[in-house]
Amino acid sequence: MTDVATAPPFPMARECPMHPPAEYASLRAERPIAPVTMPDGQRAWLVTKHKYARALLADPRVSSNRTHPAFPFLTEVDRASLTRDDRPFTRSMLAQDPPVHTTHRRAVITEFSVRKVQAMRPRIQQIVDECVNAMLADGGPLDLVQALSLPVPSLVICELLGVPYADREAFQRWTRVLVTRSSTTQERTAASDRLTEYLDKLVSAKEAAPTDDLLGRLIAKNAQTPTMDHTELVAMATLLLIAGHETTANMISLGVVALLERPDELTELRDSPGILPQAIEEMLRYFSIVDAITARVALADIEIGGVTIRAGEGLVVAVNAANWDDEVFAEPQRLDIHRSARHHVAFGFGVHQCLGQNLARAELEIVFETLFRRIPGLRLTVPAADLPYKDDANTYGVHEVPVTW
Ligand code: HEM
Repeated sequence: MTDVATAPPFPMARECPMHPPAEYASLRAERPIAPVTMPDGQRAWLVTKHKYARALLADPRVSSNRTHPAFPFLTEVDRASLTRDDRPFTRSMLAQDPPVHTTHRRAVITEFSVRKVQAMRPRIQQIVDECVNAMLADGGPLDLVQALSLPVPSLVICELLGVPYADREAFQRWTRVLVTRSSTTQERTAASDRLTEYLDKLVSAKEAAPTDDLLGRLIAKNAQTPTMDHTELVAMATLLLIAGHETTANMISLGVVALLERPDELTELRDSPGILPQAIEEMLRYFSIVDAITARVALADIEIGGVTIRAGEGLVVAVNAANWDDEVFAEPQRLDIHRSARHHVAFGFGVHQCLGQNLARAELEIVFETLFRRIPGLRLTVPAADLPYKDDANTYGVHEVPVTW
């Protein structure tokens, strides 16, 4: 990347809470693979076009290895600590390449199949109904994040994994520190240590006495045919717990806000719930809440889009930019529930494409259908523009959604 004179800082700020940073559109038009400067001062390539995003995320010459010295992080990190054995996140499948990644993903993939998620639906419905019952009993006004957005995916992932829901206050707090860019390195290290200690203890207990839940089944299977060591099991538990609640919670909150702001579309969805799955794909595209964790490092020279990404250079795929590519999605700034948006990359692309996407879709469908059917008069108590959006989080969302009905 020596030919590069200017490399703007990344991540970039949003001007409108509902839109990606304005720079994405000009970069996509003028320089769809452009150099940027990461928070630690390192250079990386920012990818803003849909076709290059998909090509690079599917390219076996790019690596997800967080311990590579050029891996682009969205915050400053203590790189030296990343290889320590008590820092298991770098041993999770998200941070592995094939063949290790393939082995880890295969160990749990059947737990997230369409058939398995279909079987979870009645229980998800029950959880959502209980949250809505509690909202109605409270009478409002209340914060939808605490009443519904956060409890639903947290309870679902806790029950699936076999993590006590009673411990949610702690793991939700540690997760928040980890995904907030303004957390200091010390705060992030402390949160990561506490979460690791917690899940290490839980995994050890399940190793001693396997339980009938995802982690218990994984541990039992692994004891018969070992493919993962203890640290990797803890890494798996950490990844699934974080990814399973924080993402979907934000998507629920933003989806509710978007629909409350669009009464015509909301009426249409209430009258024809059959179009809800398609509307959810469009909301996933529109918000692209996990914008830039799809970072990689090139292991070989890659010629693409008129540039050469050299071996050993980092790249960041801005999913939110790719999903607003007007060559692929006409008028991307319009949230159009009639659009077929299924080819969005909000769940990533390639071997690391979101493992929990079927589960996320089921949770979103059940929450939106139930909430708007049972509380038809739901409304925000403050203008949507004044909500506290998560401007400094790796997963976009909103801290609080005050509602009444
Ligand atoms: C709306 C909700 C969600 C969004 C937008 C989302 C987004 C993503 C994205 C973009 C990736 C790709 C990361 C990369 O390529 O580096 C990913 C991976 C992953 N997601 Fe999700 N996710 C969501 C919900 C979930 C849920 C509910 C789970 C359940 C546990 C989950 C588990 C995972 C896992 C395990 C990976 C890593 C897969 C791998 O490395 O092979 N996600 N997700």
